[in-house]
Amino acid sequence: MASVNSLASTLQQQLADALTAALPDAGTADPLLRRSDRADFQANGILALAKKLKGNPRELASQVTAAIPAGDLIKEIEVSGPGFLNITLSDKAIIETLAARAADDEGRLGVPYGQNAGTTVVDYAQPNVAKEMHVGHLRSAVIGAAMVEVLEFTGETVIRRHHIGDWGTQFGMLIQYLIEHPQELDHRGGEEQDGEATMSSLNRLYKASRALFDSDEEFKARSRDRVVALQAGDEETVALWQRFVDESKIYFYSVFNKLDMEIRDPDIVGESGYNDMLEETCRILEETGVAVRSEGALCVFFDDVKGPDGNPVPLIVKKTNGGYGYAATDLSAIRDRVQNLKASTLLYVVDARQSLHFKMVFETARRAGWLNEDVKAHQLAFGTVLGKDGKPFKTREGETVRLVDLLDEAIERATAVVREKAEKVGLTEQEIVENGEYVGIGAVKYADLSTSAVRDYKFDLDQMVSLNGDTSVYLQYAYARIKSILRKAGEIRPVAHPELELAPAERALGLHLDQFGENLAEVASTYEPHKLAAYLYQLASHYTTFYDQCHVLSDENPAEVVENRLFLCDLTARTLHQGMALLGIRTPERL
Ligand code: ARG
Repeated sequence: MASVNSLASTLQQQLADALTAALPDAGTADPLLRRSDRADFQANGILALAKKLKGNPRELASQVTAAIPAGDLIKEIEVSGPGFLNITLSDKAIIETLAARAADDEGRLGVPYGQNAGTTVVDYAQPNVAKEMHVGHLRSAVIGAAMVEVLEFTGETVIRRHHIGDWGTQFGMLIQYLIEHPQELDHRGGEEQDGEATMSSLNRLYKASRALFDSDEEFKARSRDRVVALQAGDEETVALWQRFVDESKIYFYSVFNKLDMEIRDPDIVGESGYNDMLEETCRILEETGVAVRSEGALCVFFDDVKGPDGNPVPLIVKKTNGGYGYAATDLSAIRDRVQNLKASTLLYVVDARQSLHFKMVFETARRAGWLNEDVKAHQLAFGTVLGKDGKPFKTREGETVRLVDLLDEAIERATAVVREKAEKVGLTEQEIVENGEYVGIGAVKYADLSTSAVRDYKFDLDQMVSLNGDTSVYLQYAYARIKSILRKAGEIRPVAHPELELAPAERALGLHLDQFGENLAEVASTYEPHKLAAYLYQLASHYTTFYDQCHVLSDENPAEVVENRLFLCDLTARTLHQGMALLGIRTPERL
């Protein structure tokens, strides 16, 4: 038995049962249990219920109290105010529940697994072929990876999809240029296959071909023919296209690797992967009347989507010239994910600036019956990354900032922070370098994950690697400090002692530790990973208070107190480690 009921859920259940016992005809009533600072919990639900039944709330509250079975859970329960219940749990119940979490033989800290499990396809980390990755791609990758981990941890079956931009007219131009400048190819072939070199040569090629495309009408025409050849599956053309894709992937992998993130090849199903479905998708939409011909294009209209001139703006699934765009691909991807992958949920971690696109795509899919009561789609939309000046993040020259440069700088700053304390901790040079990476990459990820995704956020490295405040390095230090205490304890092992009376800081820490599973369930159902970051930050703060107020390894403590406090330290460390891992952030043992 691995899964542990939290104190809150056990209490909730007891109160609900007591409510039903006191008022058999009230049906199932919610006691509305909340954490409270007057006691551990407050139940506010009786008030509304009494009103509904035209009874006296205080009287009802006393009846409910009387109906609660005797046991170890509750230490004190009092009726307060107009009919609230203030509930204090017993120290014994707290430590026993935490001990059950610590003893979870699957190492899941008692977090329940798979109650409402379905299959979610998560569409995230979707850069574009032959293009440099930017901070927007960082957000999708970081937020998406955290959601994947949390969903999997709570028992959801997750299928990852990296919908990379690997199709479209620009490939005609790139391929045509390569055919006309074969020396580029030879040169590139001889080059080292490292990610950044690959990208810079792709970039050079992109710029050169773009310049020719814009200045030379005949080249433009040849490029257009080349797109047709690509779509028709011409062998030479497709082989060159494949080359662009493969080389770009080397670059993507080098960036994801730097981000300490695992992206698997079979999960990369780019726009091109749905090519064979486009025609059928359009045919179905047209036959069912979901899409209509308008000015030669195949369009879907919406009552509530209008342009600035008040005229409806359609979703174009097939252009006048017969070409398919982004919408046709996304609609085909939905069919694939629903019908072939058997998804019950589609989650898209994509920039908020694409929200209108997804709103129209989802609505179209609903009209076509691909989405319905049983299959839902949701865009986890994220905001823009801003510079310190509050404007969209650009270099001084006004260009988009290269993701790699940004990560390198974060690592550099973090390494400096780590180095400052390294001597005191006795870190080797190798550990300094390694921790610098963990802290730097952690800082970038945490900054992204700790504010609500849909909000824009400022990319401020100084703030990100600060030791004080809501940063990953603060959490990483909290973890390392606990590990150092556990090492110092040597032979003394962490042991739970439910017979002990707890200090207020111990109770507060314990009650928060117990909430981990509920926090994860909430994150999994609301798609809000910032709530996990907030939970972990609060956990570290509770720990800091505990550490200040309760000496752990003091000779004045009885042996059981030392063991019990070590137990709280250990469970805090394990919870921090697990939570940070779900966010994709490492927790070094020594920092
Ligand atoms: N490649 C796109 C971009 O860079 C993001 C793709 C999002 N996913 C999707 N299914 N449309 O903006």
